[in-house]
Amino acid sequence: MLKNEVKSNPCSEGAVIVIFGVTGDLARRKLMTALYENAKCNHLPKPFYIVGFARRSWTDEKMRDVLRQGVMDYSRTKPIDEKILTALLDNGYYVESTFQDSEGYDRLAGVLNRLGVNNILFYLSTPPAWYATIVEKIGQSKLESCEKAWRRIVVEKPFGRDLKTAQSLDEKLHAVFLEDQIYRMDHYLGKETVQNILAFRFGNGIFEPLWNRKYIDHIQITMAETDGVGTRAEYYDNAGAVRDVFQNHLIQLLTLTAMEAPAVFNDKTVRDEKVKVLKSISDISGDKALENTFRAQYVSGTIDGKRVLSYRDEPDVAPDSITETYMAARLFVNNWRWAGVPFYLRTGKRLSRRATEIAIQFTQIPLSLFGQRNLSIEAPNVLVIRIQPNEGITLFLGAKVPGKVMRVEPVEMRFNYADAFGSDPPEAYERLLLDCLTGDATLFTRNDEVEEAWRLTENITDAWETQDLRNLPIYESGTQGPRGADYFINDDNRHWRTV
Ligand code: BG6
Repeated sequence: MLKNEVKSNPCSEGAVIVIFGVTGDLARRKLMTALYENAKCNHLPKPFYIVGFARRSWTDEKMRDVLRQGVMDYSRTKPIDEKILTALLDNGYYVESTFQDSEGYDRLAGVLNRLGVNNILFYLSTPPAWYATIVEKIGQSKLESCEKAWRRIVVEKPFGRDLKTAQSLDEKLHAVFLEDQIYRMDHYLGKETVQNILAFRFGNGIFEPLWNRKYIDHIQITMAETDGVGTRAEYYDNAGAVRDVFQNHLIQLLTLTAMEAPAVFNDKTVRDEKVKVLKSISDISGDKALENTFRAQYVSGTIDGKRVLSYRDEPDVAPDSITETYMAARLFVNNWRWAGVPFYLRTGKRLSRRATEIAIQFTQIPLSLFGQRNLSIEAPNVLVIRIQPNEGITLFLGAKVPGKVMRVEPVEMRFNYADAFGSDPPEAYERLLLDCLTGDATLFTRNDEVEEAWRLTENITDAWETQDLRNLPIYESGTQGPRGADYFINDDNRHWRTV
């Protein structure tokens, strides 16, 4: 998983990526820019083709133009290498079809035949409502398997809306594809800093002895955003923070922080360990969910000097919506390593700052030898894994202030990606697309993992549905979030970190 090299073998005879929904935002912003970066590093199989499939009446040329513009606008590395981009796009073809039209899939099969490359990566970049139909049609067209070649499918989140819909989607996928052909995408797992949680924990010897209930007081996982719901209200108003972020990104960060070291490092062992963590999370059904979670919705406020709308005034949001745009939860991982250590999780939109981090708060010193002169007494040792932005790791310590008196103040020991490695980390999609092409599923969620995450999430959403929400808590945009979210952490005599 932490390798930089592309496995040479599986792609040696070229590959095709078939992007369903190629006319959408994701394709030009993320997928195309990631393919371009990989092409630049010579990581793509040879030959490599892009086949777009969507409803709009585009031509090959139109698709190439739009994808080219996507790279121009969103590539993280400028100036653009025109030669590489043109070579990549010259191998781009477009199939115009609705997702339910069998003839469209016949035309797709025709294009794939003409290209003469058998390794195919299908990418579902459409609204989730189309996933089942597309998969069924791929099956009917017999495109899902081929002797002596691989066929894989990438499914973007959200993977279902609850346990039942996730299981039903799985059933439909498994009717056509084997589990090891299915790549469920959680782009957080492709972030360098998220992968580094494992490198940091299992590539160093000094943290393991401290990584447990004996030395860790609690853990805070925060994903704060300044953006609002944007143009995605149609999806978001039906999902909320709990389904949009908690069920996947936050839970993934928790499992990577809490998991045991696998015996060897591969897709099976890593995911087995993550599932064990999910299975160890204490029951949080019924009243327990209400006692251990909090939700709220943003109202207007000011961010970066600009007035922003209330959630209910955003385009496509129901004016009486009770969808949460912020949520916090207290979870316990009930095993020998973590029993009694609270994991506080929170996420919200329209907060004062964009920041994702994991803060490991170590236990308090047994007694202070320096009395009033120890200004770091509050919480001397915190290890902060900064996922984004300013990617890095900081350890907070108490240190003697130079001078004639023994005075202790908090200081920071920092590792910063940009300084250490001299460049911005690659985008998550670059790594993840490459992994799909090389057949490494370690950074993708397995079906049992998704189901466990939904079981946990559903306990919360079921309990929330029993609540009378005429008075859904609110928070002003541009603030640190709702005060109400403090109640369970303050009850535990702890407080949220300012991120
Ligand atoms: C997505 C969510 O999965 O992650 C969005 O659907 C959220 O609501 C986004 O804004 C955040 O991703 P990142 O990489 O910007 O932290």
